[in-house]
Amino acid sequence: MSAHSQTTVASQLDRPLVRLSQVYKTFHAGTVNEVRPMRGVNLEIAEGSFVIVLGGNGSGKSTLLNAIAGSFAIDAGRIELDGHDVSAWPEHRRAALIGRVFQNPFSGTAPNMSILDNFSLAAKRGKFRGLGWAHTRALRDDLSDRVRELKMGLEDRLDSAIGSLSGGQRQALTLLMATWLKPRLLLLDEHTAALDPKSADQVIALTDRIIAREGLTTLMVTHSMQQAVNLGDRIVMMHSGNVLHDFNAEQKRRLRVDDLLGRFENVRRRELLDESAAELLRSRYI
Ligand SMILES: Nc1ncnc2c1ncn2[C@@H]1O[C@H](COP(=O)(O)OP(=O)(O)OP(=O)(O)O)[C@@H](O)[C@H]1O
Ligand SMILES: [Mg+2]
Repeated sequence: MSAHSQTTVASQLDRPLVRLSQVYKTFHAGTVNEVRPMRGVNLEIAEGSFVIVLGGNGSGKSTLLNAIAGSFAIDAGRIELDGHDVSAWPEHRRAALIGRVFQNPFSGTAPNMSILDNFSLAAKRGKFRGLGWAHTRALRDDLSDRVRELKMGLEDRLDSAIGSLSGGQRQALTLLMATWLKPRLLLLDEHTAALDPKSADQVIALTDRIIAREGLTTLMVTHSMQQAVNLGDRIVMMHSGNVLHDFNAEQKRRLRVDDLLGRFENVRRRELLDESAAELLRSRYI
């Protein structure tokens, strides 16, 4: 191998799969409803890493994922994905590289259609490009195999309406759909938050299995400290539109649920202090 190609390979290996540089986003700018959920966010995600995203309500977690997916245009900064500057790419173009699962088990699938028809529609929309499912038979066989692995008894219910399934079963199917073609990046936004504890555990176990098997680079938002401690190899904690803490694999291994709760408590205390300081300032100057 020449020196040149060696450097090229090395730089490709070093390059993070996702890079956000100084990303800003304000909603309702200049109005009383102005919010600034991204205030110069810098973040690099290495290929193959499984990042847990934590933070209080409104700290900017979903906005971070939405910015990467292209759900809105950012105000300033740059977002790179898989070596491309995607800052100006529309959402549908980025979708070719990204799999997503949201909190609501109803989003992402058509409830009145059967499992089979949902997958066949996704195939027609190009989600499973190049798989050559010209015949429903081939899709049915493929789907049956993959669904059997979920161990939820769904292989016998391919013709049932998705809406008739439990939230856990729907989320498992959405996860299967989102990861079928091995996306370059998987975005999970509290995808088990609406489930009962048993279903949530089942979907989490499945999530962990799929991510490990496919080696998927993943950003997973959760409010569960238990999930944060048990899963993934890095924790990013958001606060007020920025990254407040970033724990690497080694630091994460030492973290306990109580440590994380302590960090949250510190943030809350600081917010209360900020509020009382602001109050004090207001009373002085108004
Ligand atoms: N599309 C939007 N239009 C207007 N405001 C928005 C939009 N998306 C997010 N926001 C606002 O930005 C702030 C951050 O929201 P975001 O959804 O990122 O929080 P979060 O950390 O995901 O919170 P939660 O834990 O409640 O899901 C909030 O004040 C929210 O109302
Ligand atoms: Mg959110």
